[in-house]
Amino acid sequence: MSSEGKNLIGVDVGSSSIKVCEIKEGRKGARTITRFGFHPLPAETIVDGHIINSGAVVEGLEKLFARSKRRNVALRASGHSVIIKKITMPLMTAGELQEQINWEAEQHIPFDLDEVHVDYEVLHERTDHGQMDVLLVAAKKEEITDLTNLAMEARLRPMVVDLDAFTVQNVYEMGYGVAKPDETIVLVHVGAATTTVNILADGTTAFTRDIANGGNAITEEIQRQLGIGRDEAESYKCGGEGRGIVPREVPEIVNQAVEQLAGEIQRSLDFYLATSGDRDLTRVCVSGGTANIQALLDIIESRSQVPVEVLDPTRVAEVDERAVAELQGRASQAVVCIGLALRKERERH
Ligand SMILES: Nc1ncnc2c1ncn2[C@@H]1O[C@H](COP(=O)(O)OP(=O)(O)OP(=O)(O)O)[C@@H](O)[C@H]1O
Ligand SMILES: [Mg+2]
Repeated sequence: MSSEGKNLIGVDVGSSSIKVCEIKEGRKGARTITRFGFHPLPAETIVDGHIINSGAVVEGLEKLFARSKRRNVALRASGHSVIIKKITMPLMTAGELQEQINWEAEQHIPFDLDEVHVDYEVLHERTDHGQMDVLLVAAKKEEITDLTNLAMEARLRPMVVDLDAFTVQNVYEMGYGVAKPDETIVLVHVGAATTTVNILADGTTAFTRDIANGGNAITEEIQRQLGIGRDEAESYKCGGEGRGIVPREVPEIVNQAVEQLAGEIQRSLDFYLATSGDRDLTRVCVSGGTANIQALLDIIESRSQVPVEVLDPTRVAEVDERAVAELQGRASQAVVCIGLALRKERERH
């Protein structure tokens, strides 16, 4: 992909907070993260991927952009509004594929084609089999329009809409290099409400899955078992800053809650291994706010028997002084908005 022009501002409207990142790219390609902004959202602002409290989102965006003259943004769409499928098609030219893709999409996507935007990318051409693997992405127009309308209400200009799985992959590839042909890299992005698994093999996406589980489930378990409110439970989960001593039951409750999540992640890995013919996984890289929970990393590692590490998004760019302070303790949460901020105003695929 070659691209020109300035970087877009990355805007990740997640279910627990809005994250914003600006990257400046010098003429020689040196990148600097010049700003990171964070705005927590009230509970129930976004439910099952739907923005319920649009006022809270617009207000948050206005606050985050109050002092910004630049308005061209790349937005993150919720996985709920999108279907990603890897399909196999007979080998054909780009022109034939363009003609064929809607018919193909109709076979694989359970929505009316009028209701979705269809996008696709050829992953692999297997000339010897006369086949090619194509990644098919269908996004519900209505949900995407709701999101871009909210952004426009906050006087932003949405230029690009992308998904967690692909933005995390972008950060991985720029920060760590494109996965080598003999490597299988598992990217696990664990937010508040959702977890996205994206497995890279032969240098491209081989498997993606969204799991409706994340940090919220851990907070809710602490709330339930200790009979306390959400804010208190959330703070104990994150180490108890400002709340005094963390009740001694908390680590055990966290352990129980992450077992469930790690189990669902492991099922995706097992499914991939059973269906792909791939024999082993090289590494698991975890991102998203819930990557801060060491117990989760430990359980994924012990179940999968694959080395687990936290994805470091600051490998894609220098971080300037001001942004260092803003990113403090939030690097894992910033991965998606950093991935979005790598996108350019003009891109040619
Ligand atoms: N230091 C920490 N320790 C434990 N959990 C943390 C920490 N920091 C953040 N989290 C958790 O991470 C989650 C938020 O992560 P993130 O910002 O990636 O989610 P989101 O983008 O808002 O949600 P989603 O993408 O699922 O809609 C919350 O559940 C929060 O409690
Ligand atoms: Mg998120």
